[in-house]
Amino acid sequence: MKRFLDLADFEPAQIRDLLALAQRLQDSPEPGALAGKILGLVFFNPSLRTLSSFQAGMARLGGSSFVITPGQGTWQLETRLNAVMNGGAAEHIREGIPVLASYCDALGVRAFAEGKNLEQDLGESLFRMIDELCDKPLINLESAVNHPCQALADWKTMDDLAVPQRAKFVLSWVYHPRALPLAVPAATLHMAAQRGMEVVVARPEGYALPESIMNKARAAAAAAGGSVSETTDRAAAMAGAQVLYAKEWGTTAHYGDADADQRLRAELTDWCVRESWFKHAARGAKFMHCLPVRRNVAVADEILDGPRAVVRREAFNRMVVQMAVLYRMLKS
Ligand code: CP
Repeated sequence: MKRFLDLADFEPAQIRDLLALAQRLQDSPEPGALAGKILGLVFFNPSLRTLSSFQAGMARLGGSSFVITPGQGTWQLETRLNAVMNGGAAEHIREGIPVLASYCDALGVRAFAEGKNLEQDLGESLFRMIDELCDKPLINLESAVNHPCQALADWKTMDDLAVPQRAKFVLSWVYHPRALPLAVPAATLHMAAQRGMEVVVARPEGYALPESIMNKARAAAAAAGGSVSETTDRAAAMAGAQVLYAKEWGTTAHYGDADADQRLRAELTDWCVRESWFKHAARGAKFMHCLPVRRNVAVADEILDGPRAVVRREAFNRMVVQMAVLYRMLKS
C-alpha cells in the first residue's frame, strides 16, 4: 500500500483485510514488525488523538517517528502555489515535503480546509499537491474533506459492538460555537454507506452536505446494498436508529462567511445531544463522536458519561487500525 488517502479508494474486501489485521495486531502484538522504519508526521493543524495514536502505534510495532508542526519550532511552510514569499513563511512545501519524505519511510500529513471557498476545499487542491510532492507512502491525517483514519476506526468500532451491517445510522449535525470543517462528516457518511448501512443525515436548514459528498455516499451505498437520505426532522431521523454519530460542521449555504454562519447557528443551540434524542431510537442505541467534543454544547454529560457513548473505544481504535495501515505500507 502506497497511499491511504480516502477509504473510497479501497474495495470492501481490502477494508475487511485491514480490519482483520488491526484485530490481529490488537490480540497478538508484533513489537518488532517495523523495526528500523521511520514515520514522519506533519501537522499543519492541532491534534490530540491523531498525533499520539500514530506515534504510539509506530512504537508498538518497533518503529519510530518524528513530528513537525510548521511554524512551531520549525520554519513556517508556505502552501500557496506561486506565492511571493515575503511574509511569515520561510520555506515552501515544494521543498519541505520532499525533504521530510527523504528522511522517513512513510509520511502522514494533516492539513485542514481553508474554509473560504467550498469548491476549492472539495477539490482537495493542497492535499493533491502534497501527494505529488511525496515519493514515499503517504497517509491522510485529515485533509479538507476527508479523514480516512477516523472512518476506518469507526467502522471497526461498529464491528466490535456487533452493529448489524444494515443498521440505521444517523449522522447528525450538532452545535458548536463556530464553523468546523466537513472532513469528518464527509468521511463518516461515506464509511457508513460503504458498510451498507441505512444512513440518514439529520441537519438544520443551511447545513446540507455538498451534493458531491452526498452523491459519492449514495454511490457507495448502492454498491453495498444500503441507502443514504437526509432530513431536517431530527426526531424522525432518530426513530429506530441503532447508532447516532454526532458531528459539528459549518454552513454550506454561506460557506466561508463567518458572520452568516454565526447568525444561522445562534438559533440552533438545542442541537446538543441529550438522552431525550433517543426516545424512539432502537433499544441499546449507541452514541459516537470522533472527539474532541465540547461537553454540554455539542453533547450533554448524560450522554458522554452514560452507557451509550463509545467515544473512547473509537479513539482507541484509531491506534489499532492505523497500526494495520502502517503494517501494510511498511512491513517488508
Ligand atoms: N478525531 C481526531 O482526529 O482527533 P484529533 O483532532 O485530536 O487528532
